[in-house]
Amino acid sequence: MQHILDAIMQAEGATDPAAELRAVADLPVPASYRGVVVRSDEAEMFDGLATRDKDPRKSLHVQEVPTPEVGPGEALIAVMGSAVNYNTVWTSIFEPVSTFGFLRRYGRLNSLSRRHDLPYHVVGSDAAGVVLKVGPGVSKWKPGDEVVAHCLSVELEDAAGHDDTMLDPQQRIWGFETNYGGLAELALVKANQLMPKPAHLTWEEAACPGLVNSTAYRQLVSHHGAQMKQGDIVLIWGASGGLGSYAVQFALNGGATPVCVVSSPQKADLCRAMGAELVIDRSSYRFWKDEETQDPAEWRRFGAEIRSLTGGEDPDIVFEHPGRETFGASVFVAKRGGTIVTCASTSGFMHQYDNRYLWMNLKRIVGSHFANYREAWEANRLIARGRIHPTLSRSYPLEQTGQAAHDVHRNTHQGKVGVLCLAPEAGLGVRDPQLRARHEQAINRFRDQ
Ligand SMILES: NC(=O)c1ccc[n+]([C@@H]2O[C@H](COP(=O)([O-])OP(=O)(O)OC[C@H]3O[C@@H](n4cnc5c(N)ncnc54)[C@H](OP(=O)(O)O)[C@@H]3O)[C@@H](O)[C@H]2O)c1
Repeated sequence: MQHILDAIMQAEGATDPAAELRAVADLPVPASYRGVVVRSDEAEMFDGLATRDKDPRKSLHVQEVPTPEVGPGEALIAVMGSAVNYNTVWTSIFEPVSTFGFLRRYGRLNSLSRRHDLPYHVVGSDAAGVVLKVGPGVSKWKPGDEVVAHCLSVELEDAAGHDDTMLDPQQRIWGFETNYGGLAELALVKANQLMPKPAHLTWEEAACPGLVNSTAYRQLVSHHGAQMKQGDIVLIWGASGGLGSYAVQFALNGGATPVCVVSSPQKADLCRAMGAELVIDRSSYRFWKDEETQDPAEWRRFGAEIRSLTGGEDPDIVFEHPGRETFGASVFVAKRGGTIVTCASTSGFMHQYDNRYLWMNLKRIVGSHFANYREAWEANRLIARGRIHPTLSRSYPLEQTGQAAHDVHRNTHQGKVGVLCLAPEAGLGVRDPQLRARHEQAINRFRDQ
């Protein structure tokens, strides 16, 4: 692996980094590599424990794994940086289901997908790095290209996916529902997951927006999501978290007014640093009286606080992902005719809400999931143009990915948590220092928070 890293490091500070990186085309691909895995024989290790007590540091291992063959339409990348997403937390605690079931099902599809059904699962759904090898039929990308990978894996053999690839019946999230993910030294992707690495960012900064930025883009901006427009009031749960920190930026960038919900003064400061003015601390709210009963008085108090901040207006859009704990409140506070757009259920997926507030006030609930290639590309383009910035707070070495996932599981992190894979240190990979200098402050807003 060292010869590959040495070749990539030649580009550092070079006058023509692309020319230096073309050398990787002639290098032998290592027969194995280090990846962060969960193991199938440990899938029951947390049985009987409460969700909170399931510890990713115990289930995520750094292990040497064989390098897969690169099939038609695929690419092998040397991963310099990656990031932790909540899906790696789910995989590591084997909730709501073990991801080995996904791999088994995928393995049954065809001879190529069979490679994914293994007793270990290399996890991770974000990556920034360098293309090492491309399979037959790939013409858009070549060895030496500096790339980021989005996490939509599709087969597209069925007509259903050809208007919107998220509707492909064989749609999967790479590194969660497939093997060979990004928290590793090498990763196997479909070539149509690749996008240009933003030149002004370091490897770990470039890797961290991928999954959440694309998801927030579809959820909030795309015509498949809430179709946010100028002037909209957008209530954003977890506004300083992974998804939320990009939703806030999209709202501000698109002329909307975010109302940020967070759980601490430090997180409120981060929202203000991004340019948001309206912030609510959710710590004082108890939307549930007990396990079974919600408290509409709390919904009303929450709605009143929103109105006090907005000058009496209700949210046109509610950006939902906490799920069970907040969904009743979200449906209640949305404006008449407004949209609740949801992509997750962190606190529980059996939602309860009072349907009278939905139908009588003509509100809509829209389900959203990751993003198609076009949406991911547009979201990445906004990063590359310096219109949306990474929200990386800290980076861990690959060996400490368990701790990184633990931080996210325990909600002690801010924004995104990065992982250095092949990159020997943080701060490498910047190819456009001028553009970086223009946005340095914004890029570093979340750093060390
Ligand atoms: N469908 C998709 O494509 C997709 C894509 C990305 C993520 N997701 C899912 O979306 C969820 C959030 O992901 P993320 O990356 O944003 O995670 P994250 O970085 O942990 O951020 C989530 C934020 O939500 C807030 N939160 C947590 N529990 C809450 C609760 N009970 N009530 C209200 N707010 C709560 C927290 O902020 P405060 O404590 O400050 O309020 C936290 O910072 C996860 O379940 C993830 O799996 C889905």
